[in-house]
Amino acid sequence: MSIQESLKVTPKGDVALIEWDHIGESANKMSTPIMARLKEILEELNDSSFKAAVIISRKKKIFIAGADINEIKSLKTKEDFAGAVSGGQEIMNFVEDLKIPVIAAIHGACAGGGCELSLACDYRIASDASETKIGLPETKLGIIPGFGGCVRLPRVVGVQGALDIILAGKMVPAKKAFKMGLVDKMVHPAILEEQALKFANGVIAKGSKKRKKQHAPQGLMNKFLESGLGRPVVFSQAKKMTMKKSHGHYPALLVALNVIKKTAGMSNRSKAMDIEKQGFCEVAGGEISKNLINLFFMMEDVKKRNGVDGDEKGLEVSHLGVLGAGTMGGGIAYVAADKGIFVRLKDISTDSIAKGFEAARKIWDKKVKKRRMTKYELTEKMGHISGGLDYAGFKQLDVVVEAIVENMDIKKKVIAETYENLKDDCVFATNTSSLSVTEMATAHPKPENFLGMHFFSPVHMMPLVEVIRGPQTSDKATATVYNLSKKMGKIPVVVKDAPGFLVNRLLVPYMMEAAFFLQEGASIEKVDKIFVKKFGMPMGPFALMDSVGLDVCVKVSKIFKESLGERIELPEMLLKLEQTDRLGQKNGKGFYNYENGRKKDVDQSVYTDLGLGSPSDPLSEEDIIGRAMYNMVNEAALVLLEEHVVGSAEDLDLAMIMGTGFPPFRGGLLRWADKEGSEKIVDDLEVFASKYGPRFKPTTPLRNMAKTQRTFH
Ligand SMILES: NC(=O)c1ccc[n+]([C@@H]2O[C@H](COP(=O)([O-])OP(=O)(O)OC[C@H]3O[C@@H](n4cnc5c(N)ncnc54)[C@H](O)[C@@H]3O)[C@@H](O)[C@H]2O)c1
Repeated sequence: MSIQESLKVTPKGDVALIEWDHIGESANKMSTPIMARLKEILEELNDSSFKAAVIISRKKKIFIAGADINEIKSLKTKEDFAGAVSGGQEIMNFVEDLKIPVIAAIHGACAGGGCELSLACDYRIASDASETKIGLPETKLGIIPGFGGCVRLPRVVGVQGALDIILAGKMVPAKKAFKMGLVDKMVHPAILEEQALKFANGVIAKGSKKRKKQHAPQGLMNKFLESGLGRPVVFSQAKKMTMKKSHGHYPALLVALNVIKKTAGMSNRSKAMDIEKQGFCEVAGGEISKNLINLFFMMEDVKKRNGVDGDEKGLEVSHLGVLGAGTMGGGIAYVAADKGIFVRLKDISTDSIAKGFEAARKIWDKKVKKRRMTKYELTEKMGHISGGLDYAGFKQLDVVVEAIVENMDIKKKVIAETYENLKDDCVFATNTSSLSVTEMATAHPKPENFLGMHFFSPVHMMPLVEVIRGPQTSDKATATVYNLSKKMGKIPVVVKDAPGFLVNRLLVPYMMEAAFFLQEGASIEKVDKIFVKKFGMPMGPFALMDSVGLDVCVKVSKIFKESLGERIELPEMLLKLEQTDRLGQKNGKGFYNYENGRKKDVDQSVYTDLGLGSPSDPLSEEDIIGRAMYNMVNEAALVLLEEHVVGSAEDLDLAMIMGTGFPPFRGGLLRWADKEGSEKIVDDLEVFASKYGPRFKPTTPLRNMAKTQRTFH
């Protein structure tokens, strides 16, 4: 009954209005029962007197979100996948072959299977609302569009446009979709239905039942590139770019590329659909796709959570205070204001406040240049930030984040002083990266309102926020900051207060291991290349140290040594770095050379500066990856299973992917470790410990896992 009601037909004169409103679901999805219902409707339409049909969604922000990913997850064998794809393709073909013209009236997200349905329609009209986005994000889940998307999109927007969307897993806004020919008309959302019906009646009046139009490239160059002669150039360039970006770690990209290459211009639809189906089955259900789908669910899960066990919602944050308008404070102010939160910046220097404003403005300016934002919106967003040297406006704040100098005494003093100027229940968060949140909370008269909100740099790019709960932090404060992080477009993970919290605790030993490699004769280029190309990290450990700041790395390593004892061994080389003027990217002098802040080649003089000879690269690739990664897994076992710094292996994986760029296709540090196997990891760590030092000694929880052959997940 509810499926029947979820998709129904309302007659509008000669036009059948198909209204889609999946009952009991927040989004319209192409689940098997819904598709069966759609087929039933289409069959009835073919036998009816209707002369056109319009498909419209009744959800507020979604046209059709795509295939039901739960269903994809439940499929196991190649036959299951082939069956599911055939079913989907059959319905899309049915839409295409319907006697009467079909118009998709799109408002909100039109993704994956939803986009494929719209491509099978004869025309697409979209609302120009900002929530309208159309695209095929399948490759982000390690699969390819399988309901005809690889075949039909190139016919609608050309091969170049289709590759751009499918290989990037992109969702394009209505304006761009209109420009590239993906939609035929753009209208205000309030008149979408009326305009779609009018359009349908116009098509009926013209007497042309079905659309014949194919993509018509504009301009000489595009005409050449879309021709039989030019396409090989497009495909070869796309392959090169894909390999450069993915290093071959995302097979769905190459499979999609191949399917589009083989089927572009093919007149035999059923043959083209078979090729697409084969491509889909090649990647669906594979380990990489499973990992990416798991990641999708982890992120969906965050949307439903509030960071605490009960149903505490916390304060709704409309006014945020930011203490310190430096690198982090400026970034935090930008991200919050961008999402419509009013921000009050406070610093001890007007120059810093001016810089904070400037940093935010620069990012918005770039968006205006790229036409992702209007000048009016820029002015409106800038109006959300104000600043000063005093506490004006602080009584209005719901949350204050402090991002001042990393010094416990100064922070404590500022916390106590600020408290006097806040309303009673204002939540106070520190963005410290290395100091104890618990100790800092002693400066706050209401420690239940105090916690950590650890952003990563650069704030506008890095998605993770560690929400650090001190022993006295209340559920209300935790939920407030957890939900605020989501409102700011971030992925929050709740962690306990412990040295380095979660991500830095794991990342610092990884960076330090790289310093040992250097000491042992490895070259900076080789090590970074192994982690980027072979393992899939976004940057190698040396480039990472440069971007964090070499002075910060040395300082934090020493703090870690103090708190973690023999598990941290300080590489001599790191201490020698202190005696140089190398600070990394910020002063343009680190392991790499920099030009206008952009990383260039390795600075060869660094070897002599650190008293090292020419690198001879004596270490094997396997040892380099094993030492750095197993080291992290070893620490992660302790952090998760003994110290309970983080609540679950899923949260740890999510934090590593979002906070360090740990390769998503590997599913996270612990999912990768499960694949390696705890026994192998412990055996290798023992060998490393005997060769290189006690820092590799397997931790008790990891040993126990190996003994009982358990996995993290
Ligand atoms: N930079 C990073 O990569 C990073 C990452 C995560 C967390 N953090 C943490 O964020 C905090 C700030 O770091 P940053 O890199 O932005 O530093 P920064 O030096 O760029 O900025 C600090 C700002 O605080 C201001 N300030 C100093 N004392 C103040 C006071 N009493 N009241 C108000 N403002 C005051 C300074 O004028 C300066 O503008 C530190 O706790 C740091 O550990 C930094």
